[in-house]
Formats: sequence, structure tokens, C-alpha cells
Amino acid sequence: MFDTNLYRGQRVLVTGGGTGLGFAMACKLASLGAEVHLCGRRMDVLEQAVRTLKGEFGAKAFAHRLDIRSAEHVAQMVEGIWQLHGPLTALVNNAAGNFVSRTEDLSINGFHAISDIVFRGTFYVTQAVGKQWISQGLPGAVLSIVVTWVDTGSPFVVPSAMSKAGLDAMTKSLAVEWGPKGIRLNAIAPGVIPTQGASARLRPQIGGNEDAVNQRQRDNPMRRLGAGEDIGNLAAYMLAPGNTWLNGQTITLDGGDALANGAYFTDYQAWNDADWAQAKALAKEAR
Ligand code: HXC
Repeated sequence: MFDTNLYRGQRVLVTGGGTGLGFAMACKLASLGAEVHLCGRRMDVLEQAVRTLKGEFGAKAFAHRLDIRSAEHVAQMVEGIWQLHGPLTALVNNAAGNFVSRTEDLSINGFHAISDIVFRGTFYVTQAVGKQWISQGLPGAVLSIVVTWVDTGSPFVVPSAMSKAGLDAMTKSLAVEWGPKGIRLNAIAPGVIPTQGASARLRPQIGGNEDAVNQRQRDNPMRRLGAGEDIGNLAAYMLAPGNTWLNGQTITLDGGDALANGAYFTDYQAWNDADWAQAKALAKEAR
């Protein structure tokens, strides 16, 4: 689909890039020649991901331990990348946190855990990288991963829905504010692309249950769920160095699922207290 040297000379930071969708995008960009920087909270996971990127793609890849909830640590990491490696050319805002809960049951700490990662943390990284680009007069590209519930809203994941909608607004706002400086901001709103982290927290009782997965596949207009390759390809297109007129857009990548089926988790309306207790216990065990 792409020239294999498309990302030669590009340096990309992927937040939460050690697992799931972040790692899938990192793989694609590395396979096209990018130098890839991954940050996340678990160094063992990041180091394993870096070994894979080096081994499979011969890529230059680096791991940075970071919780994006600390604005100070974010600034230090970004500064360190610039000093040790050179300017980033692109940023992928992928790190997120989420779990399903009835909103009336959420503790304030639970609300903060999600909104501090998704809403505030993503802003910290975007601002830190943007400040470097602006102070040096460099162009740049930011891609944020939101979700189709920025359009539909979503019951039972209200802190995430509110925070992701904020990122959608950040994308549109900064596209206009920073566009004249050569900095583009876009977003992908993926549908269901099963990953261990998301499945364990959003569909804890279902997980990989074959009947449920088959039903979701049948419900999707394209008759399948998403794969890492799907989001990797779209990310590679949207961040591509020559793609300089795509700005301020959130592109849905879901096989048409949201058009056909609307908001997620509406079926959880039928859950009783025991179902919610089980969901919470299972989600809290997820690593
Ligand atoms: C209710 C919960 C809970 C649960 C945590 N809490 N899990 N409440 N149900 N399942 C509450 C805790 O009781 C605590 O409140 C508060 O939240 C903080 O919990 P901690 O475990 O101390 O937080 P922390 O270790 O910082 O973990 C953050 C996290 C966790 C968000 C809670 O799930 C996480 O690390 N997630 C990262 C990975 C992830 O979520 N992946 C899925 C992304 S899917 P109290 O009051 O007890 O102190 C996604 C959707 C979009 O983003 C998908 C796009 C395709």
C-alpha cells in the first residue's frame, strides 16, 4: 500500500505504544522506515515492544517510561528526545484509560483516573511537542486516537466519552491555530478493534467469547471486526510527510459500524447489580 521508505528520516512518538493499537501503529510506521519512540507506564512491556520493532523491521526504536498524567515528566521526556535524538516529526496520541461503569457508581478518583490520562495527559503531550516545534519553526503532525462515541456519546463510559470529545475539539481547534505554523492535527475514531487492554475493561464478561464476537462481526456492514493493520495503514496515510493538506479531520474507521448500529454498550442497560459487580472485579484484574 505504501512506499517502504515513506517514513525514512521521520521520528515519531507513540504514547501508550507498547501494546494494542499503539503498538500496531508503531509497527506500521517502523516498517516504513520511521524511528519510533514509545512511552508508557510499564518498562518491561515497552522494552519487549522495542525488541520486536528492531528484530522484525530493523527499526531504530526507543522506550521511555512515562505516565502522561504528570505534565512535568511529559515535558522532561520530550526535552530528552529532542536533546538525545533530535526533533520529532510526528506525535501519535494513543495512550488512554477506560473501564465500564454505571455513572452513578463511579468514584471521583475513578473519574479522575480516566480523564487525567485521556483529557489532560493528551493535552500535556500535545502542548509539550507543539512548543518545541513552534519555538524551532518546525512543521509537525499530530494524530489523536479518539473513538466513534465522540459523535454518538456512549453510556457506561462517560468519563472516556467526555474526554475523547475534548480531544476531538482540541484537534479541530489547534488545526486552525497551529496550521499556519505547518503543524497539522487529525484524529482517527476507530470502531471495535479487539485488544487485550480494551476487551478486559470494556467487555470483561465477554472477552473473546466466540458467539459474541461472531455476532459483532455479523452486525458490522463489512462482516468483520477491525485489525491492527487497519489502523496502522490509516495512521501511516494521515501522518505521511507529503500529506500536508489533511488538517483538522477526525476519520471514522469502523467498517460502517456506527452508521449501522449507533452507540456502544446500549445492551448493558439490561445488566443487574451482580453483572456490574462482576464487570468491576474482572476489569480491576486486567493488567
Ligand atoms: C470501577 C474502577 C475500576 C473499575 C478502577 N477503578 N477500575 N472503578 N470499575 N473497573 C477506580 C478505582 O477504584 C480508583 O478509585 C480509581 O478508579 C483509580 O484506580 P487505580 O487502579 O488506582 O488507577 P490506575 O492504576 O491509575 O489505573 C488507571 C485505570 C486502568 C484507567 C483505572 O484501567 C488503566 O491503567 N487503564 C489503562 C489501559 C486501558 O484502560 N485500556 C483500555 C483503553 S480503551 P477509588 O475511589 O477506589 O480510589 C479506550 C476506549 C476507547 O480507551 C477505545 C478506542 C478504540
